[in-house]
Amino acid sequence: MQHRSAKISVPELQRLKVSGQKITALTAYDYPFARILDNCGIDFILVGDSLGTVVQGADTTLPVSMDEMVYHIHLVTKARPRALVVGDMPFLSYQVGICDAIANAGRLLKEGGAEAVKLEGGVNAARVIKAIVNVDIPVMDHIGLTPQSVHRMGGYKVQGKKSGRQPGARERLIEDAEAVVNAGAFAVVLEGVPLDLAAEVTKVLPIPTIGIGAGPHCDGQILVMHDLLGLSGDFTPKFVKRYANLEQTISDAVSAYISDVRDEAFPQDEHSFH
Ligand code: KIV
Repeated sequence: MQHRSAKISVPELQRLKVSGQKITALTAYDYPFARILDNCGIDFILVGDSLGTVVQGADTTLPVSMDEMVYHIHLVTKARPRALVVGDMPFLSYQVGICDAIANAGRLLKEGGAEAVKLEGGVNAARVIKAIVNVDIPVMDHIGLTPQSVHRMGGYKVQGKKSGRQPGARERLIEDAEAVVNAGAFAVVLEGVPLDLAAEVTKVLPIPTIGIGAGPHCDGQILVMHDLLGLSGDFTPKFVKRYANLEQTISDAVSAYISDVRDEAFPQDEHSFH
């Protein structure tokens, strides 16, 4: 484990891009995991609305509410991490109106303790990004495969491919990236984007790009923590590298406990009070 002391701020991510040092990020949704990730020296923790799928067992991120996001961000910030904490804005918390969007972004900071917010969308989200940034709330954007648009995309599909099925998709992705920069976003997540397109966007954008399924040329990388740790079932998307199989580790531990209790091997004298 590595622990560096200086708190990571929004400008620090920009400095990392300029210096060429890769930015590291993972999602977390509660205190113990936030503490572990932070002790390892992760640069930022995203309390993602992937909460819906990996913690709440939903099929999509769409049902996640503002109250649930505030609650989970609060659990993460209780760890007082050195890492920057970014809170995801759930579906319909920023699409309905500018005033609602500002108020909801503010809740993630005021009640949750987040230091920045993330929302999905490119050209279509530029107005709302500008409004939130104007009240001094830093915004990280998310383009490419945007999970809140699952029904429009017809599934979780790579975006910006050269194929004939998505004519102009590459140009649209670049337009989206430029629009969010002009609106004042301080970083942008590129999800499910061909690696050459992600490389091109990373080269031209003045702000950090954070890739997930976008190849090695982004300024940083993010994964859903449950995918990396082997806690999200049998299916592993192509872009995920599993670093552990905690599902197996936990099953082994729980099975051993059940056997010990049934065999009267636990508790023993050393676990008892006299
Ligand atoms: O909700 C989330 O966890 C995300 C990451 C996959 C980037 O948006």
